[in-house]
Amino acid sequence: MPDSPHKNPGSLRRRDFVKTSALAAGSVLLMPSMLSAKAHIDGSDVIKVAVVGCGGRGTGAAMQALLTKQNVRLVAMADAFRDRLDECYATLSADDISDWTGTEDNIKDRVQVPEEHKFTGFDAYLKAIPLADVIILTTPPGFRPAHFEECVRQGKHVFMEKPVATDAPGVRRVLEAAELAKKKKLNIVVGLQRHYQTVYRRWAEMIHAGAIGDIVTSHVYWNSEGVWVHTREALEKKAGRKLTEMEYQMRNWYYFNWLCGDHICEQHIHNLDVGNWMKNAYPVRAQGMGGRQVRVGPDYGEIYDHHFVEFEYEDGSRMFSQCRHQPGTMSRVSEFFQGTNGSAPRPGVLLTRSGHELMKYDDRKDPNPYQVEHDELFEAIAKGEFKFSDGENGAKATMTAILGRMATYSGKIIEWKDALNSNLDLMPQKLAWNAVPQVLPGEDGLYPCAIPGKSIVI
Ligand SMILES: NC(=O)c1ccc[n+]([C@@H]2O[C@H](COP(=O)([O-])OP(=O)(O)OC[C@H]3O[C@@H](n4cnc5c(N)ncnc54)[C@H](O)[C@@H]3O)[C@@H](O)[C@H]2O)c1
Repeated sequence: MPDSPHKNPGSLRRRDFVKTSALAAGSVLLMPSMLSAKAHIDGSDVIKVAVVGCGGRGTGAAMQALLTKQNVRLVAMADAFRDRLDECYATLSADDISDWTGTEDNIKDRVQVPEEHKFTGFDAYLKAIPLADVIILTTPPGFRPAHFEECVRQGKHVFMEKPVATDAPGVRRVLEAAELAKKKKLNIVVGLQRHYQTVYRRWAEMIHAGAIGDIVTSHVYWNSEGVWVHTREALEKKAGRKLTEMEYQMRNWYYFNWLCGDHICEQHIHNLDVGNWMKNAYPVRAQGMGGRQVRVGPDYGEIYDHHFVEFEYEDGSRMFSQCRHQPGTMSRVSEFFQGTNGSAPRPGVLLTRSGHELMKYDDRKDPNPYQVEHDELFEAIAKGEFKFSDGENGAKATMTAILGRMATYSGKIIEWKDALNSNLDLMPQKLAWNAVPQVLPGEDGLYPCAIPGKSIVI
């Protein structure tokens, strides 16, 4: 399922809705079942939710939380920008959310966010987190380590989007907080939604049961046209004033590594994660190449528009990874595995070496995995169960992508252990609208971009 930031990703659009058997009746919107008497933050069975990062995915994830069968209320919202928060609030409390869910209905009675529970700015998360039982973390990934740490410190269950960091120090913080979350029995779901998608779950079961033997090569792809860009000119025109560098980078976050991690991290993480999952391992080293040919110029910050990486696992097998953001080129978002006894040419399909079909899974009636993530999380919370600890895999999937970026940016062989121990911290020292990010444009307006063989990237 392609991940397309800024097109209401993860929302239950009309096309998806027909695939969403769990919601087909639409009645869940009107009849929240009170499954459990477990007391939450206010002593009732109401599960209170706060969303931190009220953009496309935050809106979709909040909607999915409110569409579960549990007695869920959205009680607090936090965003860096007030206009983004207002847009999200208006969508969630609209009379008609059919554009998102495919059915004429609304969830406005479950959106109970008074003005004093709407927080903006860099510290907004600190004010929203104490008010809820479950926190949805959907800012750009650079902030995830700090936000996740705070949730765990305060004993909250978490749904957080991938990636969970943009640099190795961030990954290490998430790994540590994920350990603490396990000790505190906090449910943590990471939005690597293929783990909640039936076709991938069935495929993994068969592969792990040995249907195609040992995996010897893996091929993973996120080749697409690319995503949105917010030019400085358009942003300043809309604002009616000049933006500070921090404001600009925050609005056009996709193109800055401290916020996004490059598209290998922001999108291709899904396929890299599937590669690791099927292999049941994380890579030990990587080497690769990449650059920018099409997406050049001052509006595109510092990230590449293509990467090709060869990841190596402990047993010597390889995962070949391609990701590209170039319009007019081949699109493919998928995975392929070659085993000693057969192959897995695409999700849900398995073949013997002679081409006999071992599996051909029809996923047309399967539920939307973006909804399943929330259905399963909120059911566990309502029952008082500790069932999900996706934090560690989320962090290691993120590290796989960062390892790939280090390999393509440097053109060198990078060892996993060196990458994970890297102290290259991309975050600005200070978070404020007039603070200065680490990466700045030159006099020509262009941002420095990694040069293989020259740049220090680890
Ligand atoms: N699993 C998926 O398929 C999927 C799909 C889309 C996006 N995502 C992930 O969701 C995250 C958000 O992506 P999006 O497309 O919603 O982006 P977006 O730009 O639409 O939303 C991000 C929001 O976070 C806000 N924000 C930025 N910094 C903040 C801070 N420090 N505190 C509070 N709010 C802050 C922004 O103002 C914006 O409203 C990303 O990590 C992205 O990779 C996942």
